[in-house]
Amino acid sequence: MTSPLAVIILAAGQGTRMRSALPKVLHRIGGRPLLGHVLATAQALAPETLVVVHGHGADAVRAAFPQPEIRWVLQAEQLGTGHAVAAALPEIGAGIGGDPLCLILYGDVPLLTVETLRRLLVAAGPSGYAILTARLSDPRGYGRILRDNPDRIPAGEIPAGQIPSGEIPAGQPLGIVEEKDASPEQRRIDEVNTGILVVAARHLRALLPEVGNANQAKEYYLTDLVGLARARGIEIATVLAASPEEIAGVNDRAQLAALERAYQRGRAAALMAAGVTLMDPARLDCRGEVVPAPDCVIDVDCVLEGRVVLGAGAHIGPFCHLRDVELGPGVVIASHTVMEGAVAEAGAHIGPYARIRPGTRLAEGARIGNFVEVKQSEIGAGSKVNHLSYIGDTEIGRGVNIGAGTITCNYDGAHKHRTVIGDHVFIGSDTQLVAPVRVGEGATVGAGTTVTKDVPPGALAISRSPQREIAGWRRPTKKKD
Ligand code: UD1
Ligand code: CA
Repeated sequence: MTSPLAVIILAAGQGTRMRSALPKVLHRIGGRPLLGHVLATAQALAPETLVVVHGHGADAVRAAFPQPEIRWVLQAEQLGTGHAVAAALPEIGAGIGGDPLCLILYGDVPLLTVETLRRLLVAAGPSGYAILTARLSDPRGYGRILRDNPDRIPAGEIPAGQIPSGEIPAGQPLGIVEEKDASPEQRRIDEVNTGILVVAARHLRALLPEVGNANQAKEYYLTDLVGLARARGIEIATVLAASPEEIAGVNDRAQLAALERAYQRGRAAALMAAGVTLMDPARLDCRGEVVPAPDCVIDVDCVLEGRVVLGAGAHIGPFCHLRDVELGPGVVIASHTVMEGAVAEAGAHIGPYARIRPGTRLAEGARIGNFVEVKQSEIGAGSKVNHLSYIGDTEIGRGVNIGAGTITCNYDGAHKHRTVIGDHVFIGSDTQLVAPVRVGEGATVGAGTTVTKDVPPGALAISRSPQREIAGWRRPTKKKD
């Protein structure tokens, strides 16, 4: 491909049917705004120019995408897709000159693949015009492709396995008729306009001024360009989309949910292909990047967000929520664990019911058990915090045992303070460590102690009120009345 590439993303529409205060293109799929998906796809093609036509919720939309390479064009009034592209035209070729190929995308069609767009760019060829079409069992709502003769479509344009039974509407495209303007016979055509196309800037400059709005919607239809181009003998290629999901747009919450599931099916398939066992591919949600490793197992109903790095053979139990987490080989995360901003090295064991908060590093073979919260702390190799504890702003050495119910009192109401626990320390159950405080290597702290001073290495620290007995004690009994 020799012509420079300009991508124009149409994203000015309101999305009334979303019934939302949020602009439609900021609704999310897989944790990323719809427009973010489209931008990522566009950027994978390394265009010289990237224009986004925006209108509704303009400030919020711009703020969500601070990338400096985006040229924002404000379409204050949405008078149709043709009007939107005309608004973008002055930005096209700015700085690159010549006659760029313009790829037109929709901000609310998030799952389009880079491969399909590459096919479309190739198909545009020297004539500089190609449209992406799809055959749908229910074509309602879409513009229909009109073709001028019943010849077969050259086989190369149809992806293998995508030819549904029945006759393929064939020949050169003659025009596109919008559903609102279509005759009953035209409405029976099942080949639809996806809205995605590649067109040379020279055609846009020549033909857009001729587009009027004499139609049912009183809109300037970009689709009218097809008829205008054909009238001038410009050849128009068509490419069939690889799947209905990739051309599907989001107009309401039901479509948003359906595309979320389609997206997640794709994520699950990719993980399985990389050697990860999913107990139920329909019950995992990936909302960020997952770096897979072979022989990981992920049980049902887990959510992975941000960047999650899996170590070989790691095992994630059911109902876990992980965000920005790095797991070493053989790490086990038992059910109902929530983990964020943390690293667990090889063989660490976490949960069930553990909460690991940002800034935590669990060294090799460390164990965190049920109802334990750890924040901004290092837990040394092989050390154990197995039951009902809070460990915050703490450094724990190796081979340490922290008894049940131990609390680091890290906050004095104004400042956070650190607790440092040396190697091979034994902390008895129900201990409070009032920070800042240090417990030296090999020291022991008796159960129930409130540690307020540093404990020297090897010492026993104990603070307990002495026990008394009152013989023959009678418990109060309930009076009968
Ligand atoms: C359009 C196509 C139709 C196709 C369908 C596929 C036209 C005339 N019709 O119809 O053939 O089958 O898409 O979904 O092109 N937009 C703007 N500014 C505007 C108008 C629209 O930015 O003035 C944006 C919208 O935000 C949306 C996209 O363009 O992302 C498509 O607009 P929409 O109104 O949904 O087009 P359809 O009527 O669905
Ligand atoms: Ca639409």
